[in-house]
This record gives sequence, structure tokens and C-alpha cells, in this order.
Amino acid sequence: MDKALAYTEQHFDRFVDELKDFLRIPSVSTDSRHAGDVRKTAEWLAAHLKVLGLSKVDIMETPGHPIVYAEQMVDANAPTILVYGHYDVQPPDPLELWDSDPFDPQVRDGNLYARGSCDDKGQLFMHVKAAESFFKTGGAPPLNVKYIFEGEEEIGSKNLPAFLEQQKQLLDADVAVVSDTALFGSGVPSITYGLRGLAYVEVTLQGPAIDLHSGVYGGAIENPINALARMISDLHDDDHRITVDGFYDSVIGLTPEERATFASLPFDGEEWVREVGAPHSKTEKGYTALEGTTARPTLDCNGIWSGFTGEGAKTVLPAKATAKISCRLVPGQTPQEITDKLEAHFHKHAPDTMKLTFTDLHGGHGALVPTDSTAMKAASDAMEGVYGEKPYMVRCGGSIPIVADFKRILGQDTVLMGFGLDSDAIHSPNEKFGLDRFRAGIDSIIRFMSLYAKTN
Ligand code: BES
Ligand code: MN
Ligand code: MN
Repeated sequence: MDKALAYTEQHFDRFVDELKDFLRIPSVSTDSRHAGDVRKTAEWLAAHLKVLGLSKVDIMETPGHPIVYAEQMVDANAPTILVYGHYDVQPPDPLELWDSDPFDPQVRDGNLYARGSCDDKGQLFMHVKAAESFFKTGGAPPLNVKYIFEGEEEIGSKNLPAFLEQQKQLLDADVAVVSDTALFGSGVPSITYGLRGLAYVEVTLQGPAIDLHSGVYGGAIENPINALARMISDLHDDDHRITVDGFYDSVIGLTPEERATFASLPFDGEEWVREVGAPHSKTEKGYTALEGTTARPTLDCNGIWSGFTGEGAKTVLPAKATAKISCRLVPGQTPQEITDKLEAHFHKHAPDTMKLTFTDLHGGHGALVPTDSTAMKAASDAMEGVYGEKPYMVRCGGSIPIVADFKRILGQDTVLMGFGLDSDAIHSPNEKFGLDRFRAGIDSIIRFMSLYAKTN
């Protein structure tokens, strides 16, 4: 382990240069114009892994973007880890808000700026470099490693569950390891044990067949924007609770111990929201901002459009209005259950003056992983070795739906050892990743592999 750590120290600048090459390829999975770039990224990654000397490296096809698979089997009696990451990225728009080109990585003040630097190319690359550090200093990692890097996480990992079903044997391992979450704070180590799920829908209200003159028809025809806006605002009550019938029925609530731990964490909700420019926080009554963002379900309108939004004024009564709405779910809630309840709610409350169309866009399950497993203990000790203090056990508000599938399909728990920060601007302009965290991540992974290897 010491040799591997020294190797990382010695070669770190080159690691950063290689990460820049990886980030230069615009692997935007949602944009079909970038399908060739997504494939090129998979090929780049596979070629990089091959050079390291892994015994097996494959690009495996799916109906969508390819999966990069690699493995190094060392000893049948040693534990096996399955490392997962995603090499696809979010679109960079709006481009004009970036201080440097999203696909021309730049280091400023110790941070590497580029789309995907944190989510998740930079974080998956920590695993690649940890493996290299073992390979180049006296041989293979001390345990069996399998790598699965997908190109469709940002579009819902549509083809990955079927891949897990088909490749159960290939992917057999003792535990999954994922670096795609955030630290609790800068220099504050943490391991994530909970993720939220997601239910994403689209709702359209259609009144008349075409846009109308609001002077001629206004007063006899109900306006779809007005009606949709009312329905959306009625989705929360005065306590900021969601009014959809049965929405909270299957929520697995926080335990008193968890609430006590959350309360003891170094976190100020008011300060945290001020950092992003909001004057005050707003959370479901009875819960703290930290609980609200990580362990309570939410409902947000993500987009809404209709009518005239051009320059000046146009007196129009629009024919239809549409909104995209998503719910973050907590363990216990399933995407199907919540989507069904939303559909029933919208049908029940839509005015009879218009037609409602409801579309299920996609969903994913949340996850809770045990905090007392051998793998978690090894991860905790590994991070303590790097940071000099025990990591906090926290929940993250974002979603990585495949984590639930690792459990359901492969029977594997996941260790979520992520090194992002909430302020890394993932999915936003000027996404970044601190090079100190890139380094701490590699070191933590090297330590984790050594410690977990000794636990079989
Ligand atoms: N890495 C994120 C998830 C994440 C973000 C976890 C912050 C913890 C903290 C992941 O790439 C992502 O963006 N997931 C999507 C879900 C997906 C189904 C599109 C999300 O959370 O919106
Ligand atoms: Mn991610
Ligand atoms: Mn993401």
C-alpha cells in the first residue's frame, strides 16, 4: 500500500493531465449529436485500462451507449469488489455562463474546471489511478477488482438493469463501490449510506384546439396556464407538505438515532442556502433543511411552458400548457407507486374545461445501505487514514438508481465513497473538482483496497 501511495504522489501531475484528456471528449449522453463522442470516450477509457495491464478489458454493447468492463482476478480466496462509475456527462448549457470552455479543462485555484470533472469522470478516474498505482508498484491490487463504467447514467441508466441480469456471473462480487457522491464539506470526510429515488412525469392541460384572441374568447374559455399554475401551487400545503393522496404512506421515516446524528452534524441550513443566493431556506414543517434535502421526499416543478414569451405583449389565450414535475423519493417509496398517485391526483383535480395528458418520463429507486458491514468499516478506516478523522455517515439528496439494482439483482451492498462538494456545480455552469480531493480520493481508494483485501 505504501508503495502505491508513493507512486500516486510521484505521478500525480500526469494523472491530472490524463484526466484532462478524458474530459476533453464531450460525452453528453442525452444529445444524439454526441453519440459518436460518447463511444469515443468509452474507447479512450478502455484503451487506457488496457495499457495498465488489466487481464480483461471489453467494450460491451447495449441498445444504447456502450459499457466499459474490466477486471483483474488475483486470487479466488480474496474478496472481490465491483467498481461502478459513469463516463457520460450532462449537457454544458448555458454555455455563456462558463468562464472557460466546458470541454477545455483548466486549473484555477487548485480546481479543475470542466463538464464531468466531478460528475463523474474525475471520480471514476480516481479508481483507475488507484489501480494503476498498484499495478506499477509490484503487481496487481491485493484483491479481485471488476470495473463497470456506463455511458447512460445521466439519462436514467435505461439499459443497465438488463445488463446486470444478463451478466450476473461476470459481475459477481462481495460489494459494489461507487464514487459519485459528495463529501459533507470541504475537508470534512463522509461516507454516504442513503440516496433518494426519483419519479419524473410530464403534465399537459389542453383547452381549445388553437391559441385564441384573449379579447374574443377570454371570459368563456378557461386558460390552461392559469389552471396548470393553480394545480401546481396546490401540490404543497401551508406546512410545505405534499398534498397528493397517500404520498407519505410508505415513507420509511428517520429513526430517532438518525435525527440525533443529523442534528449533531456541522451544518447550518440557512447559511447553506445563502451560499447559492437564496435569502431563506424552506423545508417541510417539523424537519431541518438537512433532513429535508436528504431524507424527506420532495416535489418540484422542473420546467413549465406555454403561451407568449417573446418581446412585448401579445393578447393570447393559449391552447395548452405543460409542466415537467419530479419527486425525490425516500426508501420505502417506489417510483411506480408515486407516479400512480400523481396521475390519480392530476386526474382528480383537473378542471373539466380541458383535457389532461399525463406521461411517466422515468424513475429510480432510492437506497439505504448498512453502515456496519466489513466493507463500510474498511472504507471508514481508509478515509480516516487520509483525513485524520473518522468520516461522518450521511445521506445524499441525489439519486443513483443503479445502487438499488446492485442489491436487487446482484445481491450486493454498495459503499458510496464520493469526493465531490455541493459547491462543485455538477449539472451547472463551471463544474469543478478540487485537485486536493482528486488526490484524497485516490489515496482513500488505495487504502480501502488494501484494508478490505485483508477481511475475507
Ligand atoms: N452523481 C449524481 C447523483 C448525486 C448528486 C448523488 C449529488 C449525490 C449527490 C448523478 O450523476 C445524477 O445526477 N443523478 C440524477 C439521477 C438520474 C436518474 C438522472 C439525479 O440525481 O438527478
Ligand atoms: Mn453522477
Ligand atoms: Mn449527474
